[in-house]
Amino acid sequence: MLAAGYLGQRVVDGIDLEVRPGEAVAIIGSNGAGKTTLFRAIAGLLRPMAGRVILDGRDVTRWPAQRMAKAGVAYVPAERHLFGAMTVKTNLMLGAYPTRPDRETLESVFEIFPLLRERLQQRAVTLSGGQQQMLAVARALMGRPRLLMLDEPSTGLAPKLAKDAFDALAGLKGTGVTLLVAEQQVPLALSVADRGYVLENGRISLDGTPRELDQNPEVRRAYLGIG
Ligand SMILES: Nc1ncnc2c1ncn2[C@@H]1O[C@H](COP(=O)(O)OP(=O)(O)OP(=O)(O)O)[C@@H](O)[C@H]1O
Ligand SMILES: [Mg+2]
Repeated sequence: MLAAGYLGQRVVDGIDLEVRPGEAVAIIGSNGAGKTTLFRAIAGLLRPMAGRVILDGRDVTRWPAQRMAKAGVAYVPAERHLFGAMTVKTNLMLGAYPTRPDRETLESVFEIFPLLRERLQQRAVTLSGGQQQMLAVARALMGRPRLLMLDEPSTGLAPKLAKDAFDALAGLKGTGVTLLVAEQQVPLALSVADRGYVLENGRISLDGTPRELDQNPEVRRAYLGIG
């Protein structure tokens, strides 16, 4: 169970969420549902108001973000926070900090995002939105995370680019990294997820496989505009 919020007010509450090693899990929720708040609480950027965060059986609830990062939890915010004036290469190198960037990791990142190899000398700010999203994920991967948390990777992307970004994310599956993705576009979320949770007004209202969620009448009505 986890609760978090601001100024004494709980924004997310009673959250029971499990992500198993190697899984891709989606958190589906519309604007203001509490996705970012939940992610910040898990990543150590916001102090939980109640409940616990457990990583590999260890209670990490009050660990600050840096310690969580060191333990292998990478958080990519919706705004991406790239170093815009710096090159793709520098962004990738900084992603490995505080460890040294190694060839092998870089090669594995290029395998998933081949375009970045050709753009190493380009400044991050001059990449397209979709390319910036890929760079943000690639940069996080340079730190060899065990859990990669992506907050609305589709933010600011045209439908085609968002789909490309999610196709690339699907390429992460089976590479050993565990994925937790917050997304309000249900078809995108379900395209990459093994399981999903629906977050509504700070509470988990539903969970299931992509097929179960896609066929759920509530989900169809509220998120897909069907029925
Ligand atoms: N720093 C803050 N201080 C006070 N309230 C906040 C703060 N950040 C978020 N909130 C509130 O918490 C609620 C959930 O916000 P949150 O950003 O977690 O939602 P979200 O699901 O990520 O939405 P979106 O899809 O728009 O990013 C909202 O009502 C928001 O106004
Ligand atoms: Mg958000």
